[in-house]
Parts: sequence; C-alpha cells; structure tokens
Amino acid sequence: MKVLITGGAGFIGSHTVDALIARGDEVVILDNLQKPVHLKGKPEYLNPAAEFRLGDVRDKTQLLQALKGVDAVIHLAAYQDYLPDFSTFFSVNTVGTALLYELIVAERLPIKRVVVATSQAVNGEGLYMCSTHGLQAPKSRPEEQLQLGDWEHHCPVCGEVMQWQWTSESFSNPENQYALSKQAQEQIALTFGRRYEIPSVALRYSIVQGPRQSFYNAYSGACRIFALHYYFGKAPTVFEDGRMLRDFVNYKDVVRANLLALDDGRMIGQAYCVGGGKAHSVLDFAKVVARISGHPDLLPSLPGEYRFGDTRNSCSDISKLTALGWSPKHTVEESVQAYVSWLKEQADVQDIFEFAERNMRALNVVRQSKVLAGQ
Ligand SMILES: NC(=O)c1ccc[n+]([C@@H]2O[C@H](COP(=O)([O-])OP(=O)(O)OC[C@H]3O[C@@H](n4cnc5c(N)ncnc54)[C@H](O)[C@@H]3O)[C@@H](O)[C@H]2O)c1
Repeated sequence: MKVLITGGAGFIGSHTVDALIARGDEVVILDNLQKPVHLKGKPEYLNPAAEFRLGDVRDKTQLLQALKGVDAVIHLAAYQDYLPDFSTFFSVNTVGTALLYELIVAERLPIKRVVVATSQAVNGEGLYMCSTHGLQAPKSRPEEQLQLGDWEHHCPVCGEVMQWQWTSESFSNPENQYALSKQAQEQIALTFGRRYEIPSVALRYSIVQGPRQSFYNAYSGACRIFALHYYFGKAPTVFEDGRMLRDFVNYKDVVRANLLALDDGRMIGQAYCVGGGKAHSVLDFAKVVARISGHPDLLPSLPGEYRFGDTRNSCSDISKLTALGWSPKHTVEESVQAYVSWLKEQADVQDIFEFAERNMRALNVVRQSKVLAGQ
C-alpha cells in the first residue's frame, strides 16, 4: 500500500509513518512544519524511507500532488493550540478536510481508505448522571461556580452533584474552537465518505502520550508541564482539587488503532473512541511523573487555580473499538517513562521550560478561585 500521512512530521504521524514502513508500506508525508510545533525546524526523527513533501493541506496544488498515486490517507494535520484565532482552527481542520474530499471526488482518485483523526474534545464535558433526574449533558461549569472553588458538575434541575460517565463516540458536545472544528471534520469525513463511497473512518483519540510530542504546544499539557518541572526539581501546580479525571492513551496503542482503521473493513463509515480505558486523576498522574522523574516526595502544589474552559472529567468509552479486538496495551507509567527519557535527551530543556511558562501566561487561561484548595 502507498499511504499519504498528512501531519506525518508530528507526534502521532511520525510514529505511524515508522509503523507503516516497518510493515512494508510506502509512505508519503505532507506537512507544513507548523510553528510552534516545529519551532526548531524539520525534526531529526523523520523516517528517511518516507517521501517528505513540505506543504499545506489547505493548498489545492500541494495536496493534489501528494494524493497522486496513493491508496489510502491518514489525515492527521491539524491546528491544535488554545489561542483565540478561531478561524485558523476551521481553516486547517475543517476546510483542509473538505478539500481532501473535494479533490478525491473531483479527480476521481482511487482512494481505498481515509482515516481522520478527531478528538475526545468533541465530547466536551461528556455525560453525567443525576441520581434523581438521570443522564445529563452539562455545558462548561460557570465562572462564578469555579471562583468559589466548587469544581463538580451539578444537576441543572435539582443542583445535586452528578456522577461522571464514560462517554462514547455516539455523543458530541463541543465547547471550544478546536472541538467544534474537529466535530465538523468528523462529520465531513463520515458524510462525504458515505455519499461518495470513499471508505472513511474517524478516530476520536483521548490524550495521547509518548516521545516526540512537541514541547512547544500548549495543548500537550499535563505530561510535558509536570515532566519539565520535575526535571528541574520543582513542584508543578495542579489545577482545581487535582481530582479531575482523564484517560491517557499510549502512542503505540494509537498507532495500532490507525493501522486497524486502514485494514479492517468493519470500521468503514464509523467513528471510534481510542482511549486508555482507565480513569486517572490529574493529581495521581502528577505523582506518577514525580516518581518516574526521581522526585517521589516532591508533591505538586494545589493553590486552587483553575483553567478557563477546562473539562472536569474526560474519559472515553472505548467498548466499540475493543469489540473489534483492539485494546490499550501500554500503561500510563510506560508513557511517562518514555516521555521523560526523551525529555532527558533534549539539548535545550531550559529553553523549553521558559517557552512553556511564557506561553501559559500569554494564553491568560489560568485563574485563581477565591477558595484555597489546600496542599
Ligand atoms: N496528541 C493528542 O493528544 C491528540 C488527541 C486528540 C486528537 N489528536 C489529533 O491527532 C492528530 C495528530 O496530533 P499530534 O499530537 O500528532 O499533533 P502534532 O502537532 O505533533 O502533529 C500535527 C502535524 O500537522 C502539521 N500541520 C499543522 N498544520 C498543517 C497544515 N496546514 N498543513 C500541513 N501540515 C500541517 C504540523 O506541522 C505537525 O507536524 C491531530 O489531528 C490532532 O488533532 C491528538
């Protein structure tokens, strides 16, 4: 097979490139080496056996050239930071995907599979259960509530604290520019795929972890920030009360899901959550990073800060994909170990740390509640 991987110079893309080449496929990469992801230029880890094309998924000529002669596409190129340039998210993530389908249809390209990476962010706050009023789909928690250090979701009818639920791909409740653009991308892939008989699969990844994740993306959050702090022997800050839950998935498991989506005809026309299958509190996750970084006694601080727009809990129900035989095989500890080892190999960790700190402040998303959550 000859496979085009858009965004193939990035974190998930480059590992997918390696896996495809290892099994004997031919790979073309289309990537514009977007900054700040590739702040220092073309990454050294790029597989020399892949054909690299510097180009933008929004550029008709460049995308068409990259598509010529390929059998399948794994579409990973995306704009992902949390900056308020709303239109860029739609331009790259949504328009770029529409152009991909436009060219396949217009040029009658014999593409046998398109795999599109969407995101758990499409789920928004996900589903919650009120013991009296049943399932609820809450919006973001109001600012006034967070100011009081009240972190949980309350039932909109009775105000009772609700229980989070594993949320599947049948649910969507996007609440920010990235999530909206990703939901539209997913709909484009599944709708045009069905309508024009272009076999398509959408994969909603949870938080993916592992080496090669850019140090310069604000979104690559917890693992990078915690690992950087512990590298310098500093205690990181954990937001809210630290008890918000996330499911983290190892990059090797995501690569296996990408390959399955290329190969398994049962997946065509469907969206699938690709997650780690376990809920971890952010505080416990920070302690894992502390231990693996060699600072088990350096506890994170909990000053009662919160991030504007953060979800309380984000945990994906992966049963639809596990029913096909895929399951996450790698632990959070393995992901953190691999990431920390990779961080230690970097020559410019001080620069990375300063960039991360500056970026967080510039984003202006961290806010202080009136209540101290304590240590
Ligand atoms: N990493 C995660 O935790 C995560 C979670 C959910 C979904 N995803 C999705 O997975 C995909 C890959 O994410 P990643 O973590 O590898 O990101 P990444 O930033 O490491 O890689 C994305 C790549 O796309 C390229 N790119 C950006 N804009 C482009 C454009 N206009 N034209 C061509 N190339 C462009 C970048 O240069 C980069 O190499 C994305 O679609 C992302 O939304 C990632």
